[in-house]
Amino acid sequence: MLFELKEDLCRLLVEESADGICVRTGGRIEYCNSAFLDLMGLKEEEIDAADGETLWAGLELADRKRIEDWSNNKNKLQRPMSLGPFRLLSGSGRSIALYLNEVGGNKERTIILARDVTELSNCHLRLQEQEKILAGMIDEASTPVFIVQDGRIRFANKVVFDLFGYCPEELIGTGIDRYLMEEEKDRIMQLYQERLAGKPIKKRLEMGLKHKNGRRVEVEIEVNLVSYDGIPAEIVVMHDITARKDMEAFQARALARIRAAFGATIRVLNNLVEAKDPYTGGHQKRVADLSRTIATEMELPAERIDGLRLAAEIHDIGKIIVPSEILSKPGVISESEWGLVKNHVKVGYELLKDIEFPWPVAEIIYQHHERMNGSGYPRGLKGEQIIIEARILAVADVVEAMSSHRPYREAHSIEETMAEIEKNKGILYDEKVAEVCLKLFREKDYNFSRR
Ligand SMILES: [Fe+2]
Repeated sequence: MLFELKEDLCRLLVEESADGICVRTGGRIEYCNSAFLDLMGLKEEEIDAADGETLWAGLELADRKRIEDWSNNKNKLQRPMSLGPFRLLSGSGRSIALYLNEVGGNKERTIILARDVTELSNCHLRLQEQEKILAGMIDEASTPVFIVQDGRIRFANKVVFDLFGYCPEELIGTGIDRYLMEEEKDRIMQLYQERLAGKPIKKRLEMGLKHKNGRRVEVEIEVNLVSYDGIPAEIVVMHDITARKDMEAFQARALARIRAAFGATIRVLNNLVEAKDPYTGGHQKRVADLSRTIATEMELPAERIDGLRLAAEIHDIGKIIVPSEILSKPGVISESEWGLVKNHVKVGYELLKDIEFPWPVAEIIYQHHERMNGSGYPRGLKGEQIIIEARILAVADVVEAMSSHRPYREAHSIEETMAEIEKNKGILYDEKVAEVCLKLFREKDYNFSRR
């Protein structure tokens, strides 16, 4: 009973299978299921007479021969287990893709499994077409593109010739290290190895490449992982940034020349003010140094730090119009005299506003007596209306002035000065600037006398 059940079940499975099943003995069909008949476009009554010719009639001649050779080859070590895909016209007149498998049998008997892989095959064809289109687009792209695998160039598009003088054919198969500049080779190859090892590195990188004529080409590359021929690879998109780099170098040289010229002017202006007010000798220099140190701690961009340092070195330039006897007067000064002293910020601004500094020097000087709560002068600016450079300069100016001797008072100790900054942190002085300044003096051992 159990045997009968198994046989029934086997018969059901075979007959209802979506795959075509065909058993051939000595070249003739011994059995085939209805799916096989449908696939081959055969009628049941044709089976007895069907030989190899009839069976594969819907196939191309070359394919028929391949199948017969495969079917007749009984050396299992030599022949593949499956064959295909083949295109044929099915029983319903539909063009299908067929895959054949041999699933058992012996010397006389062959059992063939025929599977309709039309969907899969169509997908594959579409994919191939898309790959072809994509490859064509990349090849014709105006941006240089490379595919690198195991340190060697596997693909390069046509435009690479414009970038560094090599035709794609010359590049294929060569190692990437050959095109790196000697001074950067170790760094770039190490990054490449780290990337291969799966370490996270920047996707965008600037570097120099060796042109075929030996000159350096500045490029920015963007690297992404891809699969090429089923093996992991990198697709490298390159941008020529030589012009940008040349421009940056030109600007840096021009800026250095401007800085040098300004430096000389600043020294003259500095001497002018300090000659007039001997009690504040060295004040501007020390304020400039503290301002620069605070700005560096706050990680301001280097460019802005340069501008701040320069502005701080001449921040009291406006005092040249204040008579020396007022500046060095011991004791209390009158209201009108105080008005003159306060006007030094406006005078400083007017003196410098038309000079084309690459930084807002005049504005920093104009704002250095403004206070966060609006109680400062001359305009009563508040909070972020005051530029950060002026907020830093304000704190550095107060700290240096308090800790120095004046004709009308003794120098405050650094503890007293820091107590003033702490007390008015966030009220008169920018909170962050004040905190950085407190940390410098209390924890980082900053000291004017060591400068
Ligand atoms: Fe001042």
